[in-house]
Amino acid sequence: MSPILTARDVTKTFGVQPALRGVDLDLHEGEIVAVRGRSGCGKSTLLHCLSGIIRPDGGQVHFRGERLDDTGEAHRSELRRTRFGVLLQHGHLVAELTAAENVALPLLLGGGSRRAALAAAATWLGRLGVAEAAEQIPGRLSGGQSQRVALARAMVTQPEVLFADEPTGALDSLAGELVMQLLTRVAREQGTAVVVVTHDATIAAYAERELVLRDGAVDPTGLGVAVGTGA
Ligand SMILES: Nc1ncnc2c1ncn2[C@@H]1O[C@H](COP(=O)(O)OP(=O)(O)O)[C@@H](O)[C@H]1O
Ligand SMILES: [Mg+2]
Repeated sequence: MSPILTARDVTKTFGVQPALRGVDLDLHEGEIVAVRGRSGCGKSTLLHCLSGIIRPDGGQVHFRGERLDDTGEAHRSELRRTRFGVLLQHGHLVAELTAAENVALPLLLGGGSRRAALAAAATWLGRLGVAEAAEQIPGRLSGGQSQRVALARAMVTQPEVLFADEPTGALDSLAGELVMQLLTRVAREQGTAVVVVTHDATIAAYAERELVLRDGAVDPTGLGVAVGTGA
């Protein structure tokens, strides 16, 4: 089976600081890949390049054979709305909308009826254990509730690829594991491929595969730290 998403030699530099120094990745349908590494190693930047939020400086990203990195913002944002689900590291819920309306938003933007969109939102909020938050505005939610609402919003369109940046960072370990169990099940049932950024080894253990970054490059040791050769 050929991968649905590929990255080849992806580079990105902010100013003079290289954030990614040539990263390769193959992602298959229904596969969960954890991206791990220390703070600042380039995890979020990689996720932004893969999902088309930013364009890499070099290298290529393909989704189902179509080159993403050199297409315009309009097309990339349409892909994010229709075929990708994206949970950013800092939630970004719309402050004026209730949790349920936030989750329904991608369906409403896609032309769905309000009734169907809110029903789907309720289903996802329930699956993620935050049904009670449905009518609250984001300002009244706890960090853990906000994170699950943002995840529900990323999942509600049944995306082909889910990009989740530290989706369990604000959750206690039990809630974090429940979220990962749900992601694992959805990936299997819907064939959704998942790229999950985490620095938590317990969370990464739910993935089939790990990509460990160190200073913007894939760390072949998988340890994410400098290792002396002893020589
Ligand atoms: N928008 C930006 N402007 C300038 N530097 C950035 C920006 N985004 C990330 N960086 C830098 O790129 C490196 C990688 O950041 P990031 O991808 O956020 O790491 P991680 O998610 O692994 O913590 C860091 O040195 C960070 O300071
Ligand atoms: Mg990050």
